[in-house]
Amino acid sequence: MAHPTANHLAGGPSGPDRSRVRVAILISGRGSNMQSLVQAALAEDLPVEICTVLSNRADAAGLAWARERGLPTDVLAHVGFDSRPAFDAALRARLEQLAPDYILLAGFMRVLGDELVRRFEGRIVNIHPSLLPAFPGLHTHARALAQGVQWHGCTVHFVTPELDHGPIIAQATIPVLADDTPERLADRLLPVEHRIYTQVLRWLAWRRVRLMPDGRVLVEGEPHRAWLGPTQFHEQDCHDHG
Ligand code: GRF
Repeated sequence: MAHPTANHLAGGPSGPDRSRVRVAILISGRGSNMQSLVQAALAEDLPVEICTVLSNRADAAGLAWARERGLPTDVLAHVGFDSRPAFDAALRARLEQLAPDYILLAGFMRVLGDELVRRFEGRIVNIHPSLLPAFPGLHTHARALAQGVQWHGCTVHFVTPELDHGPIIAQATIPVLADDTPERLADRLLPVEHRIYTQVLRWLAWRRVRLMPDGRVLVEGEPHRAWLGPTQFHEQDCHDHG
């Protein structure tokens, strides 16, 4: 079924609309973060143009969703390349052609090489399912449980050559519950991820995000960029044991 409402997000027939922030979204799988970004852009008529939803996997479920909504999609299968630099070079060429203002990684399961990251320095944004700098890399939920941390969360950050270490744009936390499993934790965190990534998209769309010379982020007019996700326990519980 066609979803013509997304068409204006994909740029009009007259080519790129430079009054809108051009965004490329990179995914590898279901793309729920990508979907919530697109839905917010539509619902709020954000000044955003999605120049591509690109996946390194042709079977990514998120691609079909984007296609149905008339968004431009692209596949660059990493399996077709014999080295990471070769894949990166091809990805760089595609992105250079599209000239996005921002490249949003939304569950894109490829590590980008230094050269590619430097080429788009300060323009690649990622969402990571932990409170960075804790738990960079994979299996964040299982590692958080194994460490016994009581707060878990997610981070939206700029991408730098060091994996999952770039300047932090926003963070949100959720409590770890006694009976949590990695799956339950992930399920509870996902809607919170959607919320903060969407908020960051709004800031980017309204050109309010600055990367400062000291490597930190400033969002104009925002007194804080920290959220408490649903706590799922009553404040009284803390007092009872305090
Ligand atoms: C999310 O948990 C995100 O934080 C991580 O990969 C997952 C992607 O989920 N980087 P989806 O494809 O956006 O649903």
